[in-house]
Amino acid sequence: MDHKKKVLITEKVDEEGIKLLQQELEVDIALGLPREELLQRIGDYDALIVRSETKVNEELMNYGKKLKVVGRAGNGIDNIDVPAATERGIIVANTPESNTLSACELSIGLLLAQARNIPQANSFLKAGNWERTRFKGSELYNKTLGIIGLGRIGSLVATRMAPFGMKVIAYDPYISDERFRRFGAEKKETLKELLEEADFITIHTPKTKETFKMIGEKEIQWMKKGVRIVNAARGGIICEQALYDGLVSGKIVSAGLDVHEQEPCFNTPLFGLDQVIVTPHIGADTLEAQQNVGITVSQQVLNGLKGEIVPNA
Ligand code: MLT
Repeated sequence: MDHKKKVLITEKVDEEGIKLLQQELEVDIALGLPREELLQRIGDYDALIVRSETKVNEELMNYGKKLKVVGRAGNGIDNIDVPAATERGIIVANTPESNTLSACELSIGLLLAQARNIPQANSFLKAGNWERTRFKGSELYNKTLGIIGLGRIGSLVATRMAPFGMKVIAYDPYISDERFRRFGAEKKETLKELLEEADFITIHTPKTKETFKMIGEKEIQWMKKGVRIVNAARGGIICEQALYDGLVSGKIVSAGLDVHEQEPCFNTPLFGLDQVIVTPHIGADTLEAQQNVGITVSQQVLNGLKGEIVPNA
C-alpha cells in the first residue's frame, strides 16, 4: 500500500490483533464513541472494526464514504446491515469460529449455576449467612436438554452435555439429519415437541426476523413445569416479558441470561428475580477467544483492504 489506510476500532479488540493492524494501517481506537461523533468521524476511514454494540446501519455507511471493510470481531452480525453493505461494495467479515467454544462453555456455566443456585449461595454466604438446606438444586443426570439451534455453538453444547448423562434433543430446521446424528442429538421436528420434552432449554440461534421473540407466552405454555432456561445467544429471542411472567408463575424455575433485549442493559424486571442469573454479554470474553477473534478479524480486514480473499465473510 502506498499510503497507510485507516481503520477505526470502536469496541475492545485484543492487543495482538491491533499490533497486526498497526504493521500496515493507521489504527485509531475510540471505545464508547458517542453516535454523533462516530458519524462525524467515519468518513475518514477505510475500515471499521466492531463487536456487537456498534450499529453499522445505512446511516453510518452513508457517512462512511471511504469504507471498504467492516470487521465484526465475533460471530453474530445482527448489528450490521449486510444487504446495505453489499449494495455499497463494503465487505462484512466476521469470525464465526473464533469464540464458539467460549460461548458454549458460558452456556454450560449458566446451566450448572442455575441448577445448583451457585450465584445465590455465593452471595448468601458472603453476606454472613450459613444455611445448607436453602439452595436445593437439581441434578443434570437423566434430564433432557433441549437445544434450539444445532449450529457451531449448539453442537459443542450437545457433545459436552451428553457425558453428564443428559438426553440431548434439538430443534433446528436448517440442518441435515446427519448433523443431528453426528452430535448425538435426537431431532425434534417442531419447536413445540422440543419445548414439551425438555427439562433444560438452551438457545443457540442467531437473531433474525424468524427467531426474534420465538419464545413467547404461547411457547412457554408448551414447556414442562419446572423447566430451566439459558440464553447466551441473543437478547430478544426470548420475549423478556413472557419469561418474567413464566418465572413469576413458577412454570419456569430459573433462567441464566448472558444477553438482553436492550444492550447495554443496566436493569430489567428480570434482574429483580432471585432465580434469574444475569451476565453482561460475556460469552466471548475469555483470553483465548479474544486473542483468536482479535487476530482473525485483523487479518480479515487487512485481506479485505488489499483485495485478497476474506474467508468467513
Ligand atoms: C458473538 O456474536 O460473537 C458474541 O456475541 C460476542 C460478541 O459480541 O463480542
